Amino acid sequence: MNLSAVILAAGQGKRMKTRKPKVLHKILGKPILQHTVDAVKALKPERLVIVVGNGADEVEEQITDRSVSFVTQKKLLGTGNALLEAEKALRGIKNSTLLVLNGDSPLTTSNTIKKFLSNHRRSNNDLSLLSFIDESLTGYGRISRDSRGQVSGIIEDKHASANEKKELTELNGGIYAIEPDILGFLSKLKKRRLSGEYYLTDIVAIAVKERRKVEAYNCPAEEVMGINTRAELHKALETLNKRNISKLMNSGVTFINPSSSLVHSSVKIGKDTVVYPNTYIEGNTSIGRNCIIYPGVRILDSTISDKVSIKDNSLIENCRVSKGSVIGPSAHIRPQSNIGRNVKIGNFVEIKTSNIGDGTKISHLSYVGDALIGQNVNIGAGTITCNYDGRKKHKTIIRSDVFIGSDSQIIAPVIIGKGAYIAAGATVTKNVPAGALAISRAGQKNILGWSIKGQLKAKPGEK
Ligand code: UD1
Ligand code: CA
Repeated sequence: MNLSAVILAAGQGKRMKTRKPKVLHKILGKPILQHTVDAVKALKPERLVIVVGNGADEVEEQITDRSVSFVTQKKLLGTGNALLEAEKALRGIKNSTLLVLNGDSPLTTSNTIKKFLSNHRRSNNDLSLLSFIDESLTGYGRISRDSRGQVSGIIEDKHASANEKKELTELNGGIYAIEPDILGFLSKLKKRRLSGEYYLTDIVAIAVKERRKVEAYNCPAEEVMGINTRAELHKALETLNKRNISKLMNSGVTFINPSSSLVHSSVKIGKDTVVYPNTYIEGNTSIGRNCIIYPGVRILDSTISDKVSIKDNSLIENCRVSKGSVIGPSAHIRPQSNIGRNVKIGNFVEIKTSNIGDGTKISHLSYVGDALIGQNVNIGAGTITCNYDGRKKHKTIIRSDVFIGSDSQIIAPVIIGKGAYIAAGATVTKNVPAGALAISRAGQKNILGWSIKGQLKAKPGEK
């Protein structure tokens, strides 16, 4: 049987105290709504419709999936009204089970939805819902069951009596599987006086009354936890982070203090890599085996090969680091850089849009930008590639086996030939031929006894 899906995401997010649409707040680098979109996409629905309203333009701009189409809910008249708007857009689709999800529950996995849908189909239900048990939570709809244990309706928390709140501990997860026939009942929903809204959840009692088959299936609470407040946003982040890190630990990665590392869902890390505390591993990052990621490191959208060490407080963005290299402490590798094998990039070094050949060392206090550097080059402390003339960026090419003395400025565009030497303190403005020594410094003069004439109090010959 076919599947279509609707995600309800028009709500205002009042409890979040935000001007940004609630569903665009991010959890581990991805908007709340995108998490749900990704989980649903894995089921390959024929159509995926998102109902937008509050901040519709912004939501449509940020959720750029081709497989998604948007429907606007003109007035925010509740979840029942939101689905009614979507249903109009889906009218062409017949014989399709409709999966409906709240757009503010980002931790539902596609596995859980798959199981839920197969239960729905196997039992031939007209309407199924996902529920969970948690006696500590409030604000959710409460599932009521009759004396035979059959679902009879959903009582929203704000309408529940004290007794109902105590007795009904099975809560509504906000995920529904609905057969086309049930959608007709949407027009029967009544506006609630207390909130001025049409509740989708009221459809359950209507369907039961009309003798349709309705069932609720339990799932883990963390998967259907809704995000209404900043505290819940944080809780979702913690849960997802824990999930990501547990998965990596189970596959052979060591985390010294897992709760102080943040790891996005798309990150891959190889066996026997050790991750120290206060580390952020983000976006499409993959890290190889036997690496060490020391405290305070942030890596995003980068590919790190095996046996790499990234020392304390380094930032690595959108680049590649090959096997055996050591980066940091306090290094910054900026986008589109390619760091070769067994490279050493040390303290306070910034690399930007550059290729660094195998075995090269840039150990202290350097800036290397728009440079192509060969193999086994030694770049002395405080070397700067002056790549910018105030208007344009220029390239520096340093061939293999070059030695650059400390505190040199390499003014681009310039080429330094293979095996050349640059004496310390040079300002290189012209190409240097292979094997040459380039010196550019004023000769040293010692003026004996100079300090006696001046203010300095040293005697001639004193050390
Ligand atoms: C809803 C359910 C509740 C369930 C809980 C699970 C209703 C009436 N209640 O409550 O039973 O336990 O979810 O998380 O459905 N939305 C719209 N248009 C609207 C109003 C809301 O698209 O006019 C969207 C919101 O953006 C949100 C979702 O629907 O993504 C749920 O709305 P929300 O206001 O958060 O409902 P809850 O009070 O959490
Ligand atoms: Ca909610």
